[in-house]
Amino acid sequence: MQDSLATSVNPTVLVFDSGLGGLTVLREISALRRNLKLVYAADDAVFPYGRLEDDALIARVSSVMDELIARYRPALAVIACNTASTLTLPVLRAKHAIPFVGTVPAIKPACAQSKTKRISVLATPGTVKRDYTRALIEEFASDCVVDLVGSPWLAPLAEAHLRGEGATDEEIAKEIAPAFRDDGAKTDTVVLACTHYPLLLERFKALAPWPVAWIDPAAAIARRVASLLPPQGQPAKGPVSAYFTSGKAPGPALAAALQSFGIEPVTAI
Ligand code: DGL
Repeated sequence: MQDSLATSVNPTVLVFDSGLGGLTVLREISALRRNLKLVYAADDAVFPYGRLEDDALIARVSSVMDELIARYRPALAVIACNTASTLTLPVLRAKHAIPFVGTVPAIKPACAQSKTKRISVLATPGTVKRDYTRALIEEFASDCVVDLVGSPWLAPLAEAHLRGEGATDEEIAKEIAPAFRDDGAKTDTVVLACTHYPLLLERFKALAPWPVAWIDPAAAIARRVASLLPPQGQPAKGPVSAYFTSGKAPGPALAAALQSFGIEPVTAI
């Protein structure tokens, strides 16, 4: 039976991403609401999503979500992936009766808070080419110069960082460099428009050519999730369960990293 938003003390909430980036959103949700049965699902079999063509991505997310919703019967699902949210939310909402909370580039608050009116959107190549992203810029950033920076490598580098496989300073610095404009006024705000990027935030700060505000929408997404759920009930028991579409068991470094997000033991199916 589908978990019910209205009646369940411990509603099941599914948090979905192509890989490990959605953990940065899961962390905020679990800090805000202790009563949720959280399930983390990563489509690591086809990671990264940022390089997929639109039709292939829609078909893939749609079929994986069908399977996940049938398996876990969540009361609500979070698409903790900008690359997927900016394309697939209408399809998912048309197919399933549960609420979906998406993750889209935080262009509005970034432009509103920028003093130099120079902002960058650091994302995957998929997210930067979306009509959805362009529409956000037109609607909310008409008074800003916006640099759209689509990196094919940062999400894989963030995964390597979390898996303890190493991502060098040189590799990271090269990917973030185009987000820094100096045309007399300097970029002062960078939108982290891929959920993987907050995993590298400390390294971004250390490697940035000058200090900027980094906008991570994860806390706002968690508040949106909480607003759709019944008031806080009894804390949920047990660890967060995790599902990896590849079926591969995580190595020791990743298992330790997952533990730091409250995920243990890992259910790899
Ligand atoms: N975490 C995803 C996002 O927020 C993308 C990573 C990928 O390319 O799969 O866009």
